[in-house]
Amino acid sequence: MSELAILGGNPVRCRPFSPWPQYLPSDVQRVQRVLESRHWGGYPVPSRFAGEFADRFAAMHGAKYGLCVSNGTIALVAALRAVGVGFGDEVIVPAYTWDGTATAVLFAGGIPVFADVDPDTYCLDIESVRRALTPRTKAVIPVHLAMRFVDMDALLALATDHNLKVVEDCAHAHGGMYQGRGAGSMGDVGCFSFQESKLMTAGEGGIVITSDLRRFEHMQSQVNCGRASLTDVYHQRVLGANYRITELQAALLAGQLDMLPEMAQRRSRAAARLSEALAGIEGVRPLPPQPEITRDTLYCYVFQYRGGETGVARDVFAAALEAEGIPCDGRFYEAVYRSDLFYASPETSPQLRIGRPEPVDYSRVRCPVAERAAYEEAIWLPQFVLLGDDDVEDIALAVDKVMRNLADLETAEPSLAGVKSMSRAERPKHERMRNY
Ligand SMILES: Cc1ncc(COP(=O)(O)O)c(C=O)c1O
Repeated sequence: MSELAILGGNPVRCRPFSPWPQYLPSDVQRVQRVLESRHWGGYPVPSRFAGEFADRFAAMHGAKYGLCVSNGTIALVAALRAVGVGFGDEVIVPAYTWDGTATAVLFAGGIPVFADVDPDTYCLDIESVRRALTPRTKAVIPVHLAMRFVDMDALLALATDHNLKVVEDCAHAHGGMYQGRGAGSMGDVGCFSFQESKLMTAGEGGIVITSDLRRFEHMQSQVNCGRASLTDVYHQRVLGANYRITELQAALLAGQLDMLPEMAQRRSRAAARLSEALAGIEGVRPLPPQPEITRDTLYCYVFQYRGGETGVARDVFAAALEAEGIPCDGRFYEAVYRSDLFYASPETSPQLRIGRPEPVDYSRVRCPVAERAAYEEAIWLPQFVLLGDDDVEDIALAVDKVMRNLADLETAEPSLAGVKSMSRAERPKHERMRNY
């Protein structure tokens, strides 16, 4: 019988990893204060905890203003509208990201245009962005993905040359810094998510940060049913809806921010050890370091599986690693234009056809690096596996064990074929990243 756990052997790891999310005793007191105040919602904007937290979060990332909202997708929609994206405007997005980056563009009335990603960072490839430009391009959304940053100097230079707005999607980048500049403070608006898997969480939630008062006021009105913003210097009246965060959620965020720096350091140290260990294992490759990162942010640890030529598919490798007790996912993200969660058609999104000689046809899009990452190469480990003291040793042991026994998987391949055909629409997002 094979040693591999997926084929009946003993798993490398049977103990659970660190629990996620984490909280502090002071969180319990803050939540209790909100309960007793009988003011649980988010109106008037900003409510007390939401306002205090937003100011602190914005300052920590180097922006003047912060506004909590109901989630990261709405943060992107509000930001896009605030920078002037409207019906039919094209917005360049990376092909390899969570679908919400692109669907936010559709919700704002725009047209997502996919650019490929860089093979070493899995973040936007600037030359691919350049090739995607048209006279209709209004904005670009760099996503600082997993553990790396977009090459922001090159992107900002391109944006200046072509008069593009830059909305940073920082759903993976809480607290991160690139050449001394905070995530979300480099473009026009920065957007973060506080969904439960994120580095800071209120269960759900999000925030926008900016140093531009006009845009800040615009977003405040948008998420508060169109009401005037508190400062109302620019007297903007916009169609809005209720996308406020609740005070119960906001009460959790102060503690999350208190914990972030120490956790970030733990993750950063563990990631360095893991990369060193993986570098010595044939058939896998850690992402190369990115010296421009001056403060790490590590939403997930991502490495590359290079065993595909043996005939063992990446998804089979991921299933075998998971059976060894290591939470992981291969198909965490897809090439968005091929994803079964990206329901974008000229019928349901009229901006894809009205005013254009030909409707936008996403079936013709090809971004080879994104497709390779999504379907052949990338392995995602959730960040909580980097919080324990000796956990990365088990991860490296498990990867090494699966790679050494790849031939067993090759033989058993037909019986494992099912793991390759799982549809994301049919499984919950983080099902395979659960804590053991
Ligand atoms: C890269 C990226 N952008 C946007 C979002 C959307 O955030 P939310 O789930 O809070 O709407 C997420 C969260 O899953 C994400 O990972």
